[in-house]
Amino acid sequence: MANATETSGDCSKATAAQAQHAALGLDTAKHSVHTVHPQAQWFPKASLGLFIHWGIASVHGNLDLSWAMIANTPWDAAAGGANKLTPEAYWKLAERFKPELFDPDKWIAAAAAAGFQYAVMTTMHHDGYTLWPSRYGDFGVQTYLPGRDLVGEFVQACRRHGLKVGLYYSPPDWRFDRQYMSFNFRNFGNTPAAQSGANEFPALDQRHQPTVVSAPPADHAQLRRKMFHGRVEELLTRYGHIDLLWFDGGAHDNELRDRARVLQPHLVINSRSCDGDFDCTECELPEQRPTGWFETCHCWQSCDILRANGAVLDVWGYLAGEKFKSTAWMLGALSLLRGWGANLLVNVGPRPDGQLPDVVYERLAETAQWMAHSRRSVIGVEPCPDLRCEVPVTADARSLYVHLTPGHSGKIDLVPIDKPQSVRLLRTGLAVPYTWDDQTLHLEVPADQRTSLVDVVMVESMS
Ligand code: GLC
Repeated sequence: MANATETSGDCSKATAAQAQHAALGLDTAKHSVHTVHPQAQWFPKASLGLFIHWGIASVHGNLDLSWAMIANTPWDAAAGGANKLTPEAYWKLAERFKPELFDPDKWIAAAAAAGFQYAVMTTMHHDGYTLWPSRYGDFGVQTYLPGRDLVGEFVQACRRHGLKVGLYYSPPDWRFDRQYMSFNFRNFGNTPAAQSGANEFPALDQRHQPTVVSAPPADHAQLRRKMFHGRVEELLTRYGHIDLLWFDGGAHDNELRDRARVLQPHLVINSRSCDGDFDCTECELPEQRPTGWFETCHCWQSCDILRANGAVLDVWGYLAGEKFKSTAWMLGALSLLRGWGANLLVNVGPRPDGQLPDVVYERLAETAQWMAHSRRSVIGVEPCPDLRCEVPVTADARSLYVHLTPGHSGKIDLVPIDKPQSVRLLRTGLAVPYTWDDQTLHLEVPADQRTSLVDVVMVESMS
């Protein structure tokens, strides 16, 4: 199995993701049934996508996107309230968000060269700042960067470089809800506990001052929904063909999903805010082969600023430390997921000036070098559900691809399998020693031919 410590993520990360999902009202227990639209069938073989979380928090450089304005989150308890701003101070960052060096062509060209097949960018995170000039609300580029449309530029860059276009949108909009919610995670949101004031913990207002949250006016939820629908319609009518709509939690809105499909029938839609096409795990790999279309989203950045119980947490938006997990980690996760027919959506956070950190380009260049010899083992391949093997295996029409994940050593058995025509290391083309008997292939890559990345053995069949 893939090296557990390198690829699985530790439980504190899972706990942070789970706590966030619960707070957003996300239903992770359902099983999706995917669209059969012919132009949506790229998704299960897409393999590798680039997730881009960007927004005004990047200006500060030490904040988790949006969540930084919520006091007392359990996952960064050990940081004692560092890396937090009040919502009021957080939203003021909009005045200093000036992405003068934004050049998505450069991001997407590097991703395309590294084998990425799709990209998904945050168009609006929970903080409510729209990266396109929306007619719904004034908190976004329409006010702070007149004339700019960061989403439009991203979409065009994806098209130019042949990547499928994905748009992330957060149904929760904490700025829109600001007068009627508690920014204290202990009674987060617009809960009865927050409203009663009788709670052991006070509700906190936009300055993190104790307050009693007032109930929103009767039409507030309706207005929020109107805004949600209006913005999503904008996103689906401004830019032509969009391939993927990636909602965060906080809504269960099949009506919007249906409207989206009227506007763009071929859309692939995730399942966080409607009965969509695919399920996911976040910041942890699935424990067993998922059923149906599936994607794991994970942060490439590693963060040692926000710590809970001594563990390193994942943070989606830009952190000035610019520390990233290795390429070996990313390729290990990708191999495991492809062996199960799932996709990896790996996240990066651009700097406030619009540039990606240099380390991202280093990781992408290393990935491109690996793809130059081993791309065929992860992109466009199928899983092999009937084959037993301790490491991830993928297949195309003629070959099997056996992924020796970082840290794995020793012999590998594949069962059941016909006698192969050849067994070779993809990186070098050199033969790998093997024996075959009774429908079992035993192979072992000599230690001096291993690298620190994933090494792939190609097993070619006779036919
Ligand atoms: C969670 C987080 C959010 C992040 C998302 C990515 O819902 O709240 O910050 O954008 O996961 O999967």
